[in-house]
Formats: sequence, structure tokens, C-alpha cells
Amino acid sequence: MNPANRLITEEQIRDKLSEMGKAITEDYRGRDLLIVGILKGAFMVMADLARHIELPVEFDFMAVSSYGSATKTSGVVRILKDLDTEISGRDVLIVEDIIDSGLTLHYLMRNLRVRQPASLELAALLIKDGIERPPLHVKYEGFHIGPEFVIGYGLDHGEKYRNLPYIGTFDPE
Ligand code: IMP
Ligand code: MG
Repeated sequence: MNPANRLITEEQIRDKLSEMGKAITEDYRGRDLLIVGILKGAFMVMADLARHIELPVEFDFMAVSSYGSATKTSGVVRILKDLDTEISGRDVLIVEDIIDSGLTLHYLMRNLRVRQPASLELAALLIKDGIERPPLHVKYEGFHIGPEFVIGYGLDHGEKYRNLPYIGTFDPE
């Protein structure tokens, strides 16, 4: 009973997060970095990426909802949990699991920019190719994948399969 066809292995994820963590470490050395994970999907990326960042970073989380239980975005973003931290004047890095329509992040980045952080950048483990989306600059990119629906490593289908240690395409069989 395996709901996923393996697309990206644990080892590939680990290597990629290590690369991303190194780049972040270099770029933010000597600065006061706040990393913000977007719940729930980004919880695993956040935990594993952070272990590759060799800086005294601070953590915060936001929870948003842009999906029902369906596999298509609704375009409606609700903030379920806002930041605990004031970000004005701070270096902020948003960590996201996947960019699909980009609507969630487009909305969030606009919302956060208003709070006047010193810098606001984006890291995403997965980016779906072949999808039209609003302009989004992703400073730290993981993997480009096709437009198919994926699960595992934080990503769910109907709230399940987030605990798969790898990323797979969803197979309802
Ligand atoms: P977007 O606003 O369409 O970019 O999608 C934002 C959120 O939808 C992501 O943070 C995920 O939580 C979820 N999502 C998008 N694509 C997938 C997928 O293929 N599998 C599981 N969740 C997804
Ligand atoms: Mg989700």
C-alpha cells in the first residue's frame, strides 16, 4: 500500500537542503536572520533546512490556508496564524514547501512587505514548472518539477502523507 510514486528521494532532498543552507549561511553572515516557515506544509523543510544554516537564526511561523481538501488552488488566502514577531527592520526569509499557482506567496509577500522588513526573500523546496503565476523572485530554489500533484515531506493530500520522508506523485490506486 504505497500511495506515492517516488519522485525525489530522501538523499536528494538532503543534498539540496545542504546546498541551500550553505548559500543562506554565506548570504546572511553577520546579519540577524529571521526564518519564517509557512505551515503546515513547510514544517519538514524548515526543520531540515535550518540544520544546514550555520548562523544563530530566529524562527517564526505563519499558517495560511489556500486549499480546501481539493488538489486545485482556490485563490483565496486566509491567515490562520500570523507572526509572533515584529519584522520591521529585520532580515526575513520565508520558507515554503512548494510554489504552485504562486497565489499564496504573492499575497503573503505583499502582506509582509507592508511591515517594512529590512529585507524579504523567499526559499522554496519545490517549484512547479509550466504554470502561469504572478511574478515571484525565489532567491533559494530547490527542485523544479512538473505540474503534477505531489505528496510527502510535509505535503499533503487531504491532510495525509505529510510524514513520507520522500516526495512522490500521488497515486490514488
Ligand atoms: P499556491 O498558492 O498555488 O502556490 O499553493 C500554495 C500551497 O498549496 C502550498 O504551500 C501547498 O501547501 C499547496 N500545494 C500546492 N501544490 C501542491 C501539491 O502538489 N501537493 C500538495 N500541496 C500542494
Ligand atoms: Mg497544503
